[in-house]
Amino acid sequence: MNESLLNLKETDTVNILAVESSCDDTSAAVIQNGKILSNIVASQSVHEKYGGVVPELASRAHQQHIVPVVHQALSNANITKSMLNGVAFTRGPGLLGSLLVGASFIKSMAYALDIPLLAVDHMQAHILAHFIDAPKPSFPFICLTVSGGHTQIVQVNSFLDMEILGETQDDAVGEAFDKCAKLMGLPYPGGPYIDRLAQEGDPDKFTFPMTNMPDLQYSFSGIKTAFLNFLKKHENKNADFIENNKADIAASIQKTLIAMLMEKLESAATQTGICEIAIAGGVSANQGLRAKLDELSKEKGWTIYLPKLEYCTDNAAMIAITAHYLLLAGNEASLRIDPDARLHFMRY
Ligand code: KG4
Ligand code: ZN
Repeated sequence: MNESLLNLKETDTVNILAVESSCDDTSAAVIQNGKILSNIVASQSVHEKYGGVVPELASRAHQQHIVPVVHQALSNANITKSMLNGVAFTRGPGLLGSLLVGASFIKSMAYALDIPLLAVDHMQAHILAHFIDAPKPSFPFICLTVSGGHTQIVQVNSFLDMEILGETQDDAVGEAFDKCAKLMGLPYPGGPYIDRLAQEGDPDKFTFPMTNMPDLQYSFSGIKTAFLNFLKKHENKNADFIENNKADIAASIQKTLIAMLMEKLESAATQTGICEIAIAGGVSANQGLRAKLDELSKEKGWTIYLPKLEYCTDNAAMIAITAHYLLLAGNEASLRIDPDARLHFMRY
């Protein structure tokens, strides 16, 4: 264990400031002895008109947001810089320019305050968001992590011991939601719009082919093409097809994407014999997915864990809870550490 951490006694109050800046949300949170005291998120609306995140604009907006967001998180938590026992940042995966803003800021704080630096894996943090509030899963559990950049089935053995059982070989499911929404003329990010429309639509009105993949692997690039061809075919006959069938199209494509996710999740549960099942990441906010899991939990005898909506999409509270466990385990990072845009599960 690192010397600076050895000085901490179990009874000490431990305050950590965490920053998340992997994509287009600048977020800062303060955690005290594993309890979140504040969680501030500044979203970037600048990308909406481009229909996707523009990396250059994202890093610039992080630069503008990071000082006020950190200031607000400390002030809401009633914590001053001198009361901090550690600072944490998202090491990756994500956009390099965005990650660099959070990494440089937090490394400077660790250096100036001479306190431990904690480097967090964004995908592992999405999973550990389940330990912010009760009910908390017990180990081992399976987590389906579904976001704009990732789709993974993970076996979680302990806070810092996780194994990827299967993942997408191309697009992430969030990307599929967003691309289908864009083809329907919906704003970016389109996942929440499809979700809302789907609640009013008939999920059995249209059918789409599900891509077959071996083992616990996923692929979502084929469905996007099938969806494009489906829209083109109908629009050729009727120019108002999308407008007149919006809710049914949304409900039908959402049903297919969820069915693809559930097929592999069910296989993972059967193969491992694990019945504690969690979901995490931006797409875990999807109402259809949450309802389907609820249905499956009754049918299969699973105990399911659905994150609070505020902890589904990117936030620094999940970075803070991960940093809390890293600090407890003595996993301090070196000031020489770099962000890693392609980080693929941190090993400890
Ligand atoms: O985890 P996240 O905030 O950022 C990444 O790490 O990617 O996930 C963002 C993704 C986007 O693709 C967004 O459309 C999707 O999560 N998303 C949803 C919903 N809310 C967010 N997808 C479907 N239904 C939702 N309600
Ligand atoms: Zn994320």
